[in-house]
Amino acid sequence: MSLDPKIQKLRELKDQATQGGGEARIKAQKERGKLTAHERVEILLDEGSFREIDAFVTHRTTDFGLADKTFLGDGVVTGYGTIDGRLVYVFAQDFTVLGGSLGRAQANKIVKLQDLALKNGAPIIGLEDSGGARIQEGVVSLGGYSDIFLRNTLSSGVIPQISSIMGPCAGGAVYSPAITDFIIMTRDSSYMFLTGPDVVKSVTHEEVTFEELGGTSTHSEISGVAHFAADSEAHALFLIRKLISYLPRNNMEDAPIVPCDDDPLRTESRLDTLVPDNPNKPYDMHEVITAIVDAGEFLEVHEHYARNIIVGFARLNGQSVGIVANQPAVLAGVLDIDASKKAARFVRFCDCFNIPIITLEDVPGFLPGVTQEHGGIIIHGAKLLYAYAEATVPKITVITRKAYGGAYCVMSSKHLRGDINLAWPAAEIAVMGPEGAINVLYRRELASAEDPEAARAELVQEYRDKFANPYVAASWGYLDDVIEPSETRPRLINALEMLKNKRDENPPKKHGNIPL
Ligand code: HXC
Repeated sequence: MSLDPKIQKLRELKDQATQGGGEARIKAQKERGKLTAHERVEILLDEGSFREIDAFVTHRTTDFGLADKTFLGDGVVTGYGTIDGRLVYVFAQDFTVLGGSLGRAQANKIVKLQDLALKNGAPIIGLEDSGGARIQEGVVSLGGYSDIFLRNTLSSGVIPQISSIMGPCAGGAVYSPAITDFIIMTRDSSYMFLTGPDVVKSVTHEEVTFEELGGTSTHSEISGVAHFAADSEAHALFLIRKLISYLPRNNMEDAPIVPCDDDPLRTESRLDTLVPDNPNKPYDMHEVITAIVDAGEFLEVHEHYARNIIVGFARLNGQSVGIVANQPAVLAGVLDIDASKKAARFVRFCDCFNIPIITLEDVPGFLPGVTQEHGGIIIHGAKLLYAYAEATVPKITVITRKAYGGAYCVMSSKHLRGDINLAWPAAEIAVMGPEGAINVLYRRELASAEDPEAARAELVQEYRDKFANPYVAASWGYLDDVIEPSETRPRLINALEMLKNKRDENPPKKHGNIPL
């Protein structure tokens, strides 16, 4: 029996909608090592789960030769499907159609999807591959992007929003991701900038390559705009799936509990000797993290940016946790501008989405100096203070070694509503390190001492004995307990269990005024 012509036509149109800007454009896309929008969506979602909507949408513009350049779908594929069986919404821009640029029709499709995601409380994932606002449509395309920015903002803290940059992205195609929670870039094929190198050259006369201006290394190491650097598009899509696995669907739910084979009572004797006796010697905080979390699995966020602090997701007895940890192996784990901003943003994300925060602390203080002061360390350091103070999710802190000065206060101290604050026996908690403290307190006495070096050594030892230990803080109740390092995992899991039904709130307000 021959096929009904109406069904035949439908099939042809649907097939046409998958052809984007045509064969030649798809070939060019592939030559750049890039997949098509439909291929990306298929790889991202559970097999066969994608349902496309608005595949028949086209633009109505006739200016600047657009009348004969209409394409089904208008440069973006939108729809919904599942990741590990859980609902997500996806839009994937199609660079083969007018450079993935966004006019009114494309904007309407994305806005429709954003509204669906927000109403139904499920994450939205944007696969961005676009030159930004469609120049031929003028202010109408600016209006379209503004409609998207508004929804990005209204959805912030309600549903997770994830952006993957999968080509040369400019203008709105980078500002919308900037409002979302996480940005993933792919090495050698994705770029982010307000405007591309050609426009930069005409405005500032700077000659700069795509890579230098807005490549993956630039944004994952220097600017911090990108949270993840993937090696390939398939890797980027895998990272999105992994990230989603740690998150609840929306702010009213908890993250899924994943069955756990790792013994919750497992102790790790190597932690008892990990911290060197010499307080100036580094060790790698990653070793602590992988030793205590389920199966050693840690999804690090901002791995290459501000490496003096580590943030990322892991599980403890199957429960998602956000980990914030000073890294003594990089700049002695000091808190500077970049580290403060990185950790503050992460703490706020976890708090939005009911993910308990585990803080592992070994911090000599805030970084002093002209560059930091002129860069505004006061305001940026305050971001982290504010983020921890306002967070109402369970907060558990372990001081592994140093907790000095303002950094003691900041890193989820008891005073900022830390729920359970623990320390290892080697912890040193004081206003500043012994040498600095003695210089301030005994400058005059040391200058006139018969043997200043011997006198200094004696005073430093006295100070160290008195303050550079966890027991003064414990005697004030600022620490709940001092624990053996080997028992950290079972103690954290036990504390999480105890805090399972925690309820805490902030005073009613429209919103706080975080020092931006
Ligand atoms: C219309 C566009 C376009 C755009 C690219 N194209 N960007 N068409 N509007 N914004 C078209 C090109 O004309 C070209 O069509 C095709 O897409 C591929 O682009 P190429 O330039 O050949 O690709 P490439 O060399 O890889 O460069 C990509 C690019 C560059 C870096 C994105 O195209 C570029 O600089 N575009 C303009 C970026 C920009 O300034 N956008 C507006 C931002 S303002 P043909 O047919 O010739 O192959 C904005 C408003 C939001 O977005 C404001 C936020 C606050």
